[in-house]
Amino acid sequence: MTISDVAGMVGARGQRHPERTARRRRYAMTPPTYFAVEYAINPWMDTAVPVDTDVAVAQWRRLREVYLRLGHTVATVAPVVGLPDMVYAANGGIVVDGVAVVARFRHPERAGESVAYADWMTGQGYAPRRTRHVYEGQGDLLLVGSKLLAGYGFRTDIRAHPEIAALTGRALVSLELVDPRFYHLDTALAVLDDTTIAYYPPAFAESSRRTLEALFPDAIIVAGADAFELGLNVVSDGANVVYPTAATGFAEQLAAAGFRPIGVDLSELRKGGGAVKCCTLEVYS
Ligand code: ARG
Repeated sequence: MTISDVAGMVGARGQRHPERTARRRRYAMTPPTYFAVEYAINPWMDTAVPVDTDVAVAQWRRLREVYLRLGHTVATVAPVVGLPDMVYAANGGIVVDGVAVVARFRHPERAGESVAYADWMTGQGYAPRRTRHVYEGQGDLLLVGSKLLAGYGFRTDIRAHPEIAALTGRALVSLELVDPRFYHLDTALAVLDDTTIAYYPPAFAESSRRTLEALFPDAIIVAGADAFELGLNVVSDGANVVYPTAATGFAEQLAAAGFRPIGVDLSELRKGGGAVKCCTLEVYS
């Protein structure tokens, strides 16, 4: 199926969807060379379950290849021994309009990653900025159109939200997460293009659900079965949506909405509580 085949598709409710247009993206990814589950800081992690690092590396490489084949740019961040979660590059910070803000991690186990991601940003020519309060990069910060959607409740401190808004100059909408399995915003909400999102409502506090309904009345509502596969942890270029293969129901919803779902198996990296988006830092510049 090509992008143009999909563009004219008629959705489940019979309406014709707008043409989906891919935009070339810039991503940064960190290979899972030292990936392991040595501590448990989210409900997906279990130190008793063995991890096969070679399998993790093979799955990660396949994800990278998918991006390259779609025409995107992928920069590689050097992994650091002793920082097993560094593969979740989305958490390293945010780069928007030439402004880089490096993460401040909640858990001491990940604190060293801030240094590694700041070094990478510096190497790319940015002058990394810092927040006073905890914030975990794009794990809790998603750009939709011109505004940032920002999660809080488990990792990012809501007091970091105004700091991020000031540093980036972007309008920011705060959303409260309430289910520990959806501890980062990018586990419960996916940005598909500049105006379209998908999300799992039970992961959000009542008031945040109302905010999302008001801002995105046409959002794709994802079922628990897919959300519990980390199915919302996807990366979209506006037309192609790279998603975890297990989220079959969400893939059907995406196709019905005119997107092109591309499944990638990241089962090994799921043992750390992450999937496609977690492994991908998008550079918005
Ligand atoms: N083990 C990591 C943690 O708990 C997983 C991070 C997943 N990343 C994400 N963007 N949700 O911090």
